[in-house]
Amino acid sequence: MTARQRKSRSIAAAALFTLATILPGNSLSAGTSSLHPGPMSRADAYARAAALIELGRKLFFDPGLSASGKQACSSCHDPRHAFGPASEAPVEMGGPHLDQPGLRAVPSLRYIQAVPAFNEHFHDSDDEGDESVDNGPTGGLTWDGRVDHGVDQAKIPLLSPFEMANKDAGAISVNLRKAAYASEFRAAFGDAVFDHPDDALEAAAEALGTLEQGSADFYPYSSRYDAFLAGKATLSAQEMHGLDLFEDEAKGNCASCHLSRRANDGEPPQFTDFGLIGVSVPRNPAIAANADPKYFDLGLCGPLRTDFKGRAEYCGLFRTPSLRNVALRKSFFHNGTFHTLRDAVAFYATRDTDPAHWYPKNADGTVRVNDDLPRAYWGNLNQDPPFGKKPGDKPALTDAEIDDIVVFLGTLTDADQVGGTQAAK
Ligand code: HEC
Ligand code: HEC
Repeated sequence: MTARQRKSRSIAAAALFTLATILPGNSLSAGTSSLHPGPMSRADAYARAAALIELGRKLFFDPGLSASGKQACSSCHDPRHAFGPASEAPVEMGGPHLDQPGLRAVPSLRYIQAVPAFNEHFHDSDDEGDESVDNGPTGGLTWDGRVDHGVDQAKIPLLSPFEMANKDAGAISVNLRKAAYASEFRAAFGDAVFDHPDDALEAAAEALGTLEQGSADFYPYSSRYDAFLAGKATLSAQEMHGLDLFEDEAKGNCASCHLSRRANDGEPPQFTDFGLIGVSVPRNPAIAANADPKYFDLGLCGPLRTDFKGRAEYCGLFRTPSLRNVALRKSFFHNGTFHTLRDAVAFYATRDTDPAHWYPKNADGTVRVNDDLPRAYWGNLNQDPPFGKKPGDKPALTDAEIDDIVVFLGTLTDADQVGGTQAAK
């Protein structure tokens, strides 16, 4: 087991979900108003969490919360696609007239309850790990880890000009007041919740964050692989071979970042260690912002994230996503540049051995490698196996081995989503 795999197991344990993490007194500083209820009994706290989850679900599916009147959270995070996008488009449209293109692929919201708060210097706390090792930037929500909790995250799409596009908290408050569930909203947060628009926005975000953190349909752990780990299902010979390749450090080495084993305490694997890493996927010309040759989405160092602007060593890094339900996706990586799971896996095998297959060519025929990252930041790119070879070298994975990994990844689809899985192409 590699250092990264040890590291991840301890994170998974630390992130172990307990209802305590969503009790209102924890997620908002305790106060005395209905918006910030003070100390309450455990039973009351559970009842409140349950009420907020039900309210959060109504908000999640309500297009009335958008400036267009047509876009809900669920429009992009479709429950029939593991709360990921239904469409093939690499990015979704939003805004008041649904004509403003987004900048990044829509992630699945399943299993985000396990994402730890962002930590610039993650140190391993596992017995087996070396605590003095700085594993670097880890965790946080969104592709660049710029927010820590669903409660804060929910405000981004509500206010983003290319998503739900409310012009301010006041506009959201007006929409909430008109909602069919306005009385439940008042019951949960107090009659005064609509007196101050910021309170209404805070309350809406609280309900949405509680839904993501506390509702079992956001983390069912019902995949065939979960059943396999529990000894209740078998994998086919090809799936087993794919799993071996996924874990083999000299082959796929995928599990060094996309954790595949249970933690010591039995916590199921999240298929990510939450590390922010540079893999250098090709630039996606289908993203409108990329028409400007000077625009680069550099992840951790900006421009969407602003606290590490100018930190050259962080440019090009994005959070390692979970691979649970990945076979449901139709666009892959932060910029949605690939459209088949097979391409996403094959990219790891031949990024360095056959760059001409992945990156565009210059007029003189030379290959524009790493075309979505300025050269100054190439030193940030990951070179661990299966990366780190030279053009012409033998790839770490054969075509048949890539197929086996793709087939294995199909076992990570949750039971309620099976049927929507794209055929391995
Ligand atoms: C127009 C499409 C769109 C809509 C509508 C939308 N989102 Fe998202 N969501 C995205 C994209 C794109 C990202 C990735 C953003 C980034 O990395 O900067 C994202 C990221 C997230 C994340 C972080 C997931 C992770 O893995 O870190 C959460 C949580 C989330 N959205 C919740 C919501 C909620 C709640 C709503 C409704 C209030 C909502 N979204 C509405 C497109 C959308
Ligand atoms: C060094 C860490 C690391 C290793 C090793 C690694 N990955 Fe990843 N993986 C990442 C990161 C980081 C991303 C997101 C990068 C981005 O979007 O720019 C990612 C994204 C992906 C995606 C896209 C998921 C989505 O939601 O769009 C797939 C599929 C994937 N990896 C599969 C694999 C497979 C299969 C292997 C082994 C062959 C592997 N990864 C090895 C870190 C890693």
